[in-house]
Amino acid sequence: MYGYKLPDDFLIGTANSAFQSEGAWDKDGKSESWMEYYAKLNAGKPARLGMTYSEDMPDRGCFFYDNYEAYIEDMQKTGQNTYRMSLAWPRIIPTGFGAVNPKAIEHYNKVIDKLLECGIQPFVDLYHWDLPQCLNEKGGFTNPQFPEWFEAYAKVCFEAFGDRVKLWSTFNEAQVSLHNGYFSGTFPPFHKNMKEYLQAAQNCLLAHFRAVRLYKSMNLGGKIGIVNAILAVSPTDFTEQDVYACALHMDHYVGWWTEPLLEGTYPQRLLRENPNIAENMPEGYQKQLDEWFIPMDFVGLNYYMTKRTRYDPEAFGHFKRAESFYSAPGQFFAPYPPGLFDVVQFVSERYHGIEIYITENGCALPNIHDEEAECDDEERVTYLREHLRMCARLIRAGYTNLKGYYYWNDADSYEQLRGYDLRFGLTWVDHVTGKRRWKKSRYFFSQVCKSKMVN
Ligand code: NOJ
Repeated sequence: MYGYKLPDDFLIGTANSAFQSEGAWDKDGKSESWMEYYAKLNAGKPARLGMTYSEDMPDRGCFFYDNYEAYIEDMQKTGQNTYRMSLAWPRIIPTGFGAVNPKAIEHYNKVIDKLLECGIQPFVDLYHWDLPQCLNEKGGFTNPQFPEWFEAYAKVCFEAFGDRVKLWSTFNEAQVSLHNGYFSGTFPPFHKNMKEYLQAAQNCLLAHFRAVRLYKSMNLGGKIGIVNAILAVSPTDFTEQDVYACALHMDHYVGWWTEPLLEGTYPQRLLRENPNIAENMPEGYQKQLDEWFIPMDFVGLNYYMTKRTRYDPEAFGHFKRAESFYSAPGQFFAPYPPGLFDVVQFVSERYHGIEIYITENGCALPNIHDEEAECDDEERVTYLREHLRMCARLIRAGYTNLKGYYYWNDADSYEQLRGYDLRFGLTWVDHVTGKRRWKKSRYFFSQVCKSKMVN
């Protein structure tokens, strides 16, 4: 077996999300999401880990809302056969629940139709971090009505787009946005309360189940899953404790958001070993899971990095992430391509060959305000090549349950807390004029998409 070949039916494409790419944040009846609300409120203030909240606003993104046709035509020229996007809840139902905004339906119909006309299969996230601010004012994810609100929103989306969209995900990286949002206080809504976090997480799982149940009952013939953040972990030292900390880390990061969704229970070791978590769990949580459980069809994995982990009895979950496994000076995340192999192997084995998509994997380089240098992104070419080779190696090793890969992101866009400081895109974007240009990495990606070979 020579070379790195991907199967002919492998889904390969780019991804982006509504609040990061669309701009047009108050156009055609859209209401504010909490991302926009807190971006305005916190501009220039301390954010997290010594970082300052950007003064940039997500009011531009990469101007996708107005320029979707040109972007999609570029995707077609790239040769990609899929695009992962999200729908903006505050655009579709500006008041969170209740009246639907016809202009939003019309807009997303045009985007979906254009993708299909160009031979690109849409992978659609119902929710990628942009809760309507009006729902946040009612307690957001912690409100007991959250699952109902979400189901009603999902119904509108399935009815409007389900005839053409065949790959759906309910939530993007719920564990990151809810843990950071309600527990560590570094993402909207900036709370620090374990009980609230656990309640928000439980409500999110129930919302997911309700959407999956509804979707299945509608017989639309597609698949539905969730998108989870994942990282490969390695013990800081090969002590029994640090090795155990890795298991606890995976229980929390992966198990919590996969086990209930496939098997209907939280990872038992996690609850047993962490009385502080067990004591703060919402009342009747298992009964609620039993009542609503329905298995999903696949799991999406957003893989960026590998971290060393250390046992720490004081820390949440009894583990602490230490330094990156690999050092990559100048890069926001320290990439470690073999970790992609490890995480797909881990999830496949633990969850009995569940269908997997790499829903994000991306190289963030700093915005240095130099178009030529930013488009000559050899580092990103190497990043792509090495991660895509891992996909080919996995499939060759028998992990044929890996069905697709999405590079994050299609074009330089808005990054939460960081604004336009980081560039992840295969297409370079001038965030003032909207000018676009293919980077070297897009030309490389295009060769892979067209040949399904990674040279
Ligand atoms: C994961 C999130 O889904 C996405 O919104 C974000 O831009 C990337 N990580 C990079 O931080």
